[in-house]
Amino acid sequence: MCADPIVMRYFVSPMAADDSIRWAEARQREIGETGWGLWAVEVVGHFPFIGFVGIWQNVTLHAVEVGWRLDEPYWGQGYASEAARASLDYGFDVVGLDEIVSCTAVVNEPSRRVMERLGMTHDVSDDFEHPRVPARHELRPHVLYRMSAERWRELRASKASG
Ligand SMILES: CC(C)(COP(=O)(O)OP(=O)(O)OC[C@H]1O[C@@H](n2cnc3c(N)ncnc32)[C@H](O)[C@@H]1OP(=O)(O)O)[C@@H](O)C(=O)NCCC(=O)NCCS
Repeated sequence: MCADPIVMRYFVSPMAADDSIRWAEARQREIGETGWGLWAVEVVGHFPFIGFVGIWQNVTLHAVEVGWRLDEPYWGQGYASEAARASLDYGFDVVGLDEIVSCTAVVNEPSRRVMERLGMTHDVSDDFEHPRVPARHELRPHVLYRMSAERWRELRASKASG
């Protein structure tokens, strides 16, 4: 999945297999240490692995971020949003976080749509140039979206009441 140039279209480059495995092992260690992280996503009874979604400590942002990457055959079916909602529930209800953010390249419209579908808020004053993307690269400008625990509970309550 991480070697596929279509999946990795909004990253500076696809990943080599051994880098991808090292990266996944690091995420797995984080889950072992804290109990939460970027989880593998399974469509129970159908597909054992469609990608990953979850919450993780983003060291660049100094914040907990909700993130997602699905393999291309599983796009357009609501899986990322469904798994992200479960991740926000976990982050706010179980971990007890006050805020979860999400960032992506300005041009990554599919990812921004997930953030907006979740009800995350976007203030242009939070936008930033990603320090790990080369200067003048089209993927350097990033947007940052936010969700507070309070807003998430309000949105959930209003959805539950119809
Ligand atoms: C970003 C990414 C996860 C978005 O995936 P996605 O499939 O568009 O998002 P969802 O799983 O939430 O699906 C929502 C889409 O499915 C559609 N859909 C179809 N059936 C649905 C259902 N039963 N429930 C909800 N949505 C459904 C929605 O209309 C929506 O389509 P739209 O965005 O064209 O309006 C995916 O494009 C991806 O993995 N990209 C590569 C990695 C990447 O860029 N990650 C982000 C880096 S910051």
